[in-house]
Amino acid sequence: MKPLRIAINGYGRIGRCLVRALFESGPRQLQLVAINEPAELKTIAHLTRYDSTFGRFSKPVDEVEDGLLIDGELVRVCGETNVSKLPWGELDIDVVLECSGTFSSRREAEQHLQAGAKRLIFSHPAESEDDVDATIVYGINHRELSGEERILSTGSCTTNCVVPVLDVLRHHLDIEAGMLNTIHSAMNDQPVIDAYHHTDLRKTRSAIQSIIPVDTGLARGIGRFFPCLLGRLESTAIRVPTVNVSAVNLTLTVAQHTDAATVNALIEQAAVQAGAVLGITEEPLASCDFLRDPRSGIVDAGQTRVANGHLVKLLVWFDNEWAYSNRMLDVCEHIQTLDDDIARALVNN
Ligand SMILES: NC(=O)c1ccc[n+]([C@@H]2O[C@H](COP(=O)([O-])OP(=O)(O)OC[C@H]3O[C@@H](n4cnc5c(N)ncnc54)[C@H](OP(=O)(O)O)[C@@H]3O)[C@@H](O)[C@H]2O)c1
Repeated sequence: MKPLRIAINGYGRIGRCLVRALFESGPRQLQLVAINEPAELKTIAHLTRYDSTFGRFSKPVDEVEDGLLIDGELVRVCGETNVSKLPWGELDIDVVLECSGTFSSRREAEQHLQAGAKRLIFSHPAESEDDVDATIVYGINHRELSGEERILSTGSCTTNCVVPVLDVLRHHLDIEAGMLNTIHSAMNDQPVIDAYHHTDLRKTRSAIQSIIPVDTGLARGIGRFFPCLLGRLESTAIRVPTVNVSAVNLTLTVAQHTDAATVNALIEQAAVQAGAVLGITEEPLASCDFLRDPRSGIVDAGQTRVANGHLVKLLVWFDNEWAYSNRMLDVCEHIQTLDDDIARALVNN
């Protein structure tokens, strides 16, 4: 089986987390071939070795002439901001993982394809459904991929967290309406102390001093997966002064009469089937305890409440960096099996 050849565009929190997840989470049929990031090579190497959130990287990282040697594997590093000059054709790149947060339209994605990459996956929701061939939440709809899709998105970390939970509740309890409130760790689009921000006045405020409401398209993103929920959900988000791990507070009205024990039992049953994607815990944990948890969402059973038989409230934890990076790699691995099937079918014909 030929490994899928990957390039990472934008080597920030998600880009670096992808590298750690790839090298530290067991063997996968994926090969990291290149990284494109405007920063200097020595800084890229330093931030690969050391991470304030995840600690020291367990694998050796050496600087070489045009890249990094990670655990003995050569990874070409470019610092190219002109996408048309990226060497994706020369390097035979199967998938670009677009993690710069700078691009989100089909037109921009196509520039990577014109540079020679076979596919591109956005690490965030695309601007509109027309900008991608598919938006994939691994574990929910990845099996719908045919292998022909060229521009994909793996949605947002919050979409990956709540979609598996909503899938269970809509099947068993009939969701009528809901409010989703994301409690998200600080991100690099916020300043450490007050600074100018050009689109959101709240993002001018210091990330380490305040709880900050921010915009979110979570409800809209979920509507793309479950059209039956379009117009029935609303979402809000606040950023809090922690560095990683987040949670979503789901408050839903459901048609079926239920109680907290039943809701938890439904999630537990689904978690067994869903494997790595969905979890539930009865332990009295705090956000730090979910650091490096690879599951997309973990329901906190002790926080489940039901009022009047129809108003359900759940708290779902997720490591917004680690779980999401693992899901991007899961999607790549699935694409690799599809490519392999297509290649085998061609040989047999
Ligand atoms: N962090 C999370 O929890 C999380 C989870 C899921 C999805 N995401 C999504 O993933 C994307 C990246 O988020 P992040 O948190 O990793 O952001 P980040 O830490 O700011 O990383 C982005 C990186 O891309 C670089 N970059 C900027 N323009 C570039 C270009 N034209 N070509 C190549 N690299 C470029 C940036 O360099 P400079 O700093 O020099 O500009 C930075 O190093 C966003 O769309 C975000 O919504 C984030």
